[in-house]
Amino acid sequence: MAKIEVKLSDIPEGKNMTFKWRGKPLFVRHRTSAEIDTENKVDATSLRDPQTDEERVKDPKFLIVIGVCTHLGCVPIANAGQFGGYYCPCHGSHYDASGRIRKGPAPLNLEVPEYEFPEEGMVIVG
Ligand code: FES
Repeated sequence: MAKIEVKLSDIPEGKNMTFKWRGKPLFVRHRTSAEIDTENKVDATSLRDPQTDEERVKDPKFLIVIGVCTHLGCVPIANAGQFGGYYCPCHGSHYDASGRIRKGPAPLNLEVPEYEFPEEGMVIVG
């Protein structure tokens, strides 16, 4: 299956960039230290799909998720919604900056694909 290589230095801090991978949108988000702090403080046991931020990222600076809402498959909007992460306008699902579902009908967190950092500043997804 195809892999995609993304140069992380092309993504400014605080921005989310969308790539196309295996026919789906792939989000790569360069998180700010405030976002990292906020997501680390969330009590995972209180979540619908309980996952700590640590379980969802390999490098806290970069969130890498599939940009497909786990409700009915729309593409969420980055840097929107009540939790500062993503908002799906189809039926109003709010995700945080760890891609975790926080409010609305989606049952699960945004999916984290397989990826690795082969060298500084580079990620390979797939
Ligand atoms: Fe995203 Fe329904 S598809 S909220």
